[in-house]
Amino acid sequence: MQSLPRILAIETSCDETAASIIEGNLDAPFTVLSNVVASQAALHAEYGGVFPDLAAREHTRRIIPVIALALKEAGLIKRPTQAGSQIYRALKTLDAIAVTVGPGLIGPLLIGATTGSQLAAIMGKPTIPVNHWEGHIYSTFLQPAQTLPRFPLLILTVSGGHTSLVLMREHFDYEILGKTVDDAAGEAFDKTARLLELRYPGGPEIAQAAARARENGANLKIVLPRPMLASKDFNFSFSGLKTAVRYALNRGDIVLPRDTDAAAAAIEDAILDVLIAKTCRAAQEHRPTSVALVGGVAANYELRRRLGDGLVKLSTPLFLPELEYTTDNAAMIGAAGLVRYFETPRRYLSKPLVADASMRLT
Ligand code: KG4
Ligand code: ZN
Repeated sequence: MQSLPRILAIETSCDETAASIIEGNLDAPFTVLSNVVASQAALHAEYGGVFPDLAAREHTRRIIPVIALALKEAGLIKRPTQAGSQIYRALKTLDAIAVTVGPGLIGPLLIGATTGSQLAAIMGKPTIPVNHWEGHIYSTFLQPAQTLPRFPLLILTVSGGHTSLVLMREHFDYEILGKTVDDAAGEAFDKTARLLELRYPGGPEIAQAAARARENGANLKIVLPRPMLASKDFNFSFSGLKTAVRYALNRGDIVLPRDTDAAAAAIEDAILDVLIAKTCRAAQEHRPTSVALVGGVAANYELRRRLGDGLVKLSTPLFLPELEYTTDNAAMIGAAGLVRYFETPRRYLSKPLVADASMRLT
């Protein structure tokens, strides 16, 4: 029996250095043989956000060890410190290299693209450029066969860099129904967390504090705004929420640390209300066969739960990626890369990878 195509995927667009070995074809679910993520979040925490030069330096330091570890976890070499000749032989067994080429921070992107191009040249294998946002979308295809989403698929992408509602009719056929006009949802979590003196990344910190508030019945006396909740389009706006939290702190409506948990719950409720209302309305209007939630904010437990509840009323199934595929990882880049590998004529695949910090989805 012919073995399934197998590729190496690399992700370095922001502050995670990630590599994955993934195999499959279009008729069967993909198998993730390894998924290694070296997060730099702790390093950036003291700056309150990602510091691009530091991120680039760390990617340079980590990328080869991360790829070697991905080969080891896939069973292709015995030890991640094995000699170059072993690593070379393992890489030669692969069919292609998929790499995130944008959007993202240009320094970090260049390190992934250069490493991917060089390895592909040495191995004599094709390269597959992958859009990071598309990678998040394809995280929803890393599911067992019986639970793969079907087209037309409505996707809510919520990460640190994106917030959008996308209607996907076929592979790579996207219509952007709406997107944020200012901050992304993840950015809103990160920036409001900073105002509450919580650590970066703010999303998980807010979620934890919010859960505590709900358990203890802690509430704010004020209601935070739900920007664009009532607007007829599918666009989002989150920068007003950050301003409202800043004013509430200045006025003394939020006093830290007394109100940290209650404020976190109010922030989470405000962001989730808008995301869920717009997604349900888009589902009502466009009648997709499936709905998916992807991106770093898709790790949020309350969002997963409440969006699922909202869609039950519309009888539209919601597809949730496994938690390890929500925040940045290379398996999702591999999933998008594998589909591109099958759908793209070979002659387009062997070009050098060119990083594009402001790459678009459509
Ligand atoms: O997809 P991702 O890893 O990177 C980008 O492509 O931006 O998303 C990172 C974002 C951060 O803003 C982080 O605060 C948010 O995802 N995030 C969360 C949670 N986990 C990560 N937001 C809310 N709740 C969470 N549990
Ligand atoms: Zn991302």
